Amino acid sequence: MKVLVTGSTQGIGKAIAAAFAEEGGEVIVHCSKDLSKAERVRAEIGAAAAVTADLSDMGEVKGLYNKTGAVDCLILNASVQYKQLWQEITEEAIDRQFCVNVKSTLLLMQAYYPAMKEKRFGRIVTLGSVNQHRCHPELSVYSATKCAVMRLVKTIAKEAAPFGVTVNNVSPGAIATPRNAGVYNDPVLRKKVEDAIPMGRFGGPEDCAGTVLFLCGKGGGYITGADIAVDGGMSL
Ligand SMILES: NC(=O)c1ccc[n+]([C@@H]2O[C@H](COP(=O)([O-])OP(=O)(O)OC[C@H]3O[C@@H](n4cnc5c(N)ncnc54)[C@H](OP(=O)(O)O)[C@@H]3O)[C@@H](O)[C@H]2O)c1
Repeated sequence: MKVLVTGSTQGIGKAIAAAFAEEGGEVIVHCSKDLSKAERVRAEIGAAAAVTADLSDMGEVKGLYNKTGAVDCLILNASVQYKQLWQEITEEAIDRQFCVNVKSTLLLMQAYYPAMKEKRFGRIVTLGSVNQHRCHPELSVYSATKCAVMRLVKTIAKEAAPFGVTVNNVSPGAIATPRNAGVYNDPVLRKKVEDAIPMGRFGGPEDCAGTVLFLCGKGGGYITGADIAVDGGMSL
């Protein structure tokens, strides 16, 4: 299986890419600009190729398909997050989050879906967030981008189902990745987050990777349009 995982140089994306590579997949590692970083991860996890494309630049987004060719599994994991109160968030931060998180997601689905449809097989998985379901005062726009993607997932899943293409969303809770290392490594902040998680602990990137792998494997073949929470109960 040929697999592209966007934003796979660290955190959840890297764990997903590593899990596919371990299963013998032909994995393409991706990040925004630094090809040497992607190459390092490619070598470390035994992936097949490394590419860059800045997903805030729609020209680069549209060029990504030409770099990779068709894939069986498209894992749309990359995102950006700006923590700002809704009254204070800047137009630039709004635009950037909508471009990277929503617009590039749709453009990449438009680019990769036709070959999947033609082949009568494809797996598309987006990475959402527990914040689709919760109200975080500093994440209103980020949460809105994740809700927007979920709506795209449902609409496209229904249309793609007759052609053997499934489209699902995995919603992580608090996962220990470089993105939230500041919270994770601070005992006071960490406890505050863990107190809001019924399982009482952060998840690991590999928790999300297992779910994505399942959705793309035999066991997930009859699942489409779903939103699967991997959050230790945080969204309950
Ligand atoms: N960690 C959590 O607790 C958590 C919770 C809920 C949801 N999520 C979601 O899970 C996914 C992965 O999260 P994470 O914590 O693993 O993220 P992360 O550690 O911040 O890693 C983000 C990845 O996305 C890439 N990326 C960022 N901006 C990009 C751009 N403009 N163009 C191309 N690639 C870009 C980064 O590559 P560069 O090195 O090039 O920047 C990096 O590989 C995200 O969609 C996130 O919203 C995470």
